[in-house]
Amino acid sequence: MQVYILTLFPGMFSPVMNTSIVKRAQEQGLVRIRPVDIRGFAKDAHKTVDDYPYGGGPGMVMKPEPVFEAVDWVKQDLGRQPFVVLLTPQGQKLTAAVAKQLAEKPDVVLIAGHYEGFDERIRCLAHMEVSIGDYVLTGGELAAMVVLDASIRFIPGVLGDQDSALQDSFSDGLLEGPQYTRPAEYRRLKVPDILLTGRHEDIYRWRRKEAIRRTLRRRPELLRVARLTFEDRCLLEQVINEEKAGESCSEARGDIRGHY
Ligand code: ADE
Repeated sequence: MQVYILTLFPGMFSPVMNTSIVKRAQEQGLVRIRPVDIRGFAKDAHKTVDDYPYGGGPGMVMKPEPVFEAVDWVKQDLGRQPFVVLLTPQGQKLTAAVAKQLAEKPDVVLIAGHYEGFDERIRCLAHMEVSIGDYVLTGGELAAMVVLDASIRFIPGVLGDQDSALQDSFSDGLLEGPQYTRPAEYRRLKVPDILLTGRHEDIYRWRRKEAIRRTLRRRPELLRVARLTFEDRCLLEQVINEEKAGESCSEARGDIRGHY
């Protein structure tokens, strides 16, 4: 996967590109990330990339020409048409499904807008508009980083454990259940006994059940569209009964947050 990020602040991407999993993915040749400075495509001596809005109003608006030229340049560089994504709070919400869809594209351009907004004609360049949430950032750069990070996790080989992305929260429509590591007891907080037994089938079932429980408690609306097997539905029924009877795990009796 090749990702070109069109931005006025290419330097913002260095820490993300040079750290941890994103860095390793590049070193392994699984992803190629290229921040492209939109200002480099401004034609005038002052390298102007913004202007006053027609009709008046507050703030500056990103000009169309440098962005169009930058996308043309990417097309030339690639020798083919990339999939172009515009980051905007008005776009479709980023979900695991959107991130996975992008990870399957060979070439993606992320356009990070800045200033109060961008010239409406810039939308004509995009195949998809993506928002990372219902709030307005000062620019699309942080949103582009989020999209990039969420997407590359779906590229085979990027995560150490090949299955991790598929076990994550949301991948099958459920939240991930609780995870533990050593020690088995810390400050009188204990790891559930089942996880120490080595009985893999029972552990798998317990994990699945707790994922269902967590989803029911925190995001019940997800259960309506989650991909549940017949066994999952049995587990869901058990969880619902346990929740009703108030005899479930400590989290279900009362949230464990702040209880220590
Ligand atoms: N640019 C500014 N705010 C944004 C958001 N919430 N999502 C995507 N791009 C943005």
